[in-house]
Amino acid sequence: MSAKPRILSGMRSTNDRLHLGNYEGALRNWVELQDQYDMFCMVADWHVLTTAADAEVHPDIAANSLAIAKDFIAAGIDPAKSAIFRQSDVPEHAELALLLGMVVGVGKLETNPTFKEKASEVTGDHIVSYGLLGYPVLQAADILLYKPFGVPVGKDQAPHLELSRDIARSFNHLFGEVFPMFKDLIPSDESRSKLPGLDMRKMSKSYDNCIYLSDSAEETAKRIKQAYTTPTKIAKTDPGIPEGCAVCQYLKLYSPDWERQWAEDRAGERGCSQSKQELTEVLNEYLRPMRERRAGITDADVEDILQEGAKRARLVAGETMYEVRKAMKLIK
Ligand code: TRP
Repeated sequence: MSAKPRILSGMRSTNDRLHLGNYEGALRNWVELQDQYDMFCMVADWHVLTTAADAEVHPDIAANSLAIAKDFIAAGIDPAKSAIFRQSDVPEHAELALLLGMVVGVGKLETNPTFKEKASEVTGDHIVSYGLLGYPVLQAADILLYKPFGVPVGKDQAPHLELSRDIARSFNHLFGEVFPMFKDLIPSDESRSKLPGLDMRKMSKSYDNCIYLSDSAEETAKRIKQAYTTPTKIAKTDPGIPEGCAVCQYLKLYSPDWERQWAEDRAGERGCSQSKQELTEVLNEYLRPMRERRAGITDADVEDILQEGAKRARLVAGETMYEVRKAMKLIK
């Protein structure tokens, strides 16, 4: 048994690859916290179905989940320290979600901003599912099963965590103190968590403006070549505006020399292609350890790690479920 406080987090396996924004906004924090805490990293595959079950093209969730777990490991989550598991391998998540559903008001779920937004995107013959409404209940179950000290997530998840605490309080009030409160562990470094896409919009697969953790060094170089820079800087001697240039924003994060690079850009003393070249070098160096770890593992290794992770998760989840069933007088 580990004496370290436990933490848990998760990401949905909506697609088959994580991007640099996912890493800087959340995953990097997980990697940093795993020495200090007993970390549980979950691939939320059931959560994919809250928006995908009714989609035109149903994603290959099994393949995606394996790929996302591989991204976790490549990013530096060490399976020798942290449990990496798939939500659907731990059926206790479904049981607790069902039971927590008995203490959550429908009104609270209907007014949840994420639900309203997702429900408003549903068009045509598609349905607003009970599963989508229950998204935060399943997330609350994911968290509360592990009685974590904290939950490291990106800033966007703060409202969901608040709702999870709400659900825990309602349960405790009705059935006795089963679930301790937990903290949000949100990275404080805004410049990292707000890493823009290569076109300066939010980094998102749908905008095709991402650098993926699984991209090769050549792919990364190619993507950087196409990145958005100051549109009025045509000749090398034209002044740049680093604040609005994607390449300069990335240099600020990844290049120790960024202040000089920015000054030269502003003064028209350097061309955008030089900045792109220098960014390619520093970013590929930054991503090198991830690529090395990725090259060292097979899909079969990842599957073994997930099985092992699920065993560890079920040990904790099983204990909590026993308490929950007792508290609800389902068992003696
Ligand atoms: N909702 C989270 C996201 O979209 C994923 C998630 C599911 C999660 N269950 C969780 C995050 C439990 C933290 C804890 O990224």
